[in-house]
Amino acid sequence: MAFGHEKLEKNVGLLAVLVAVALSLGGLAEIIPLMRQAEAITPLPGVKPYAPLALAGRDVYIREGCGNCHSQMVRTLRFETERYGHYSLAGESVYDRPFLWGSKRTGPDLARVGGRYPDDWHEVHLIDPRAVVPESNMPAFPWLADQTVDGSKVAAKMRTLQSMGDPYTDAEIEQAAAEVDGRTELDAVVAYLQGLGIHAPKGG
Ligand code: HEC
Repeated sequence: MAFGHEKLEKNVGLLAVLVAVALSLGGLAEIIPLMRQAEAITPLPGVKPYAPLALAGRDVYIREGCGNCHSQMVRTLRFETERYGHYSLAGESVYDRPFLWGSKRTGPDLARVGGRYPDDWHEVHLIDPRAVVPESNMPAFPWLADQTVDGSKVAAKMRTLQSMGDPYTDAEIEQAAAEVDGRTELDAVVAYLQGLGIHAPKGG
């Protein structure tokens, strides 16, 4: 119908509104099914909410900007799966708020780093990366060894996550503060790193 179109194309305001409506409908049609799809919201076998120390470590990871140089998403490309392991699945990130998939890789992807190195390798590496990887240009984070975790904050975070549906038990939350209080942030980051990707399917 020539009439309708001409009117529309000459009225910028109306056109803008209708474009916004069309885009929103398209967006919703794509996003809503994804939020309900079992595959995207069901944890993979073994994937549980973060243990208190790892939860604290995840926040240190975010605070220190590790995600500016490290992604946590193995893409479905052969050279990636050969280097890192199985490509990332939505069911691995159901307890990640916010998720840390990222796309910037100054350093390697860390989605599968859990268990790749012993704890003390990580400790040395975080305090002084050049001590274990001479050509590394990763910054050093020596203060992590001096700063400690505040247990009551960790318990409060777990309580918030529980209210959002994460299956923490009340007993776990009550014990959390005593469990992590006074541990170093270095311990926390290492605990977090060592849990990354350990429940992913094996192989490429
Ligand atoms: C400015 C960029 C940059 C930042 C910020 C950064 N890294 Fe790195 N990271 C690198 C580079 C480059 C490498 C590769 C060389 C090496 O192993 O040191 C690396 C390597 C690593 C590795 C070894 C990965 C592997 O598979 O061998 C781990 C683990 C790691 N980083 C953790 C962290 C953590 C945790 C933080 C935050 C506290 C962090 N990185 C911050 C650049 C960065």
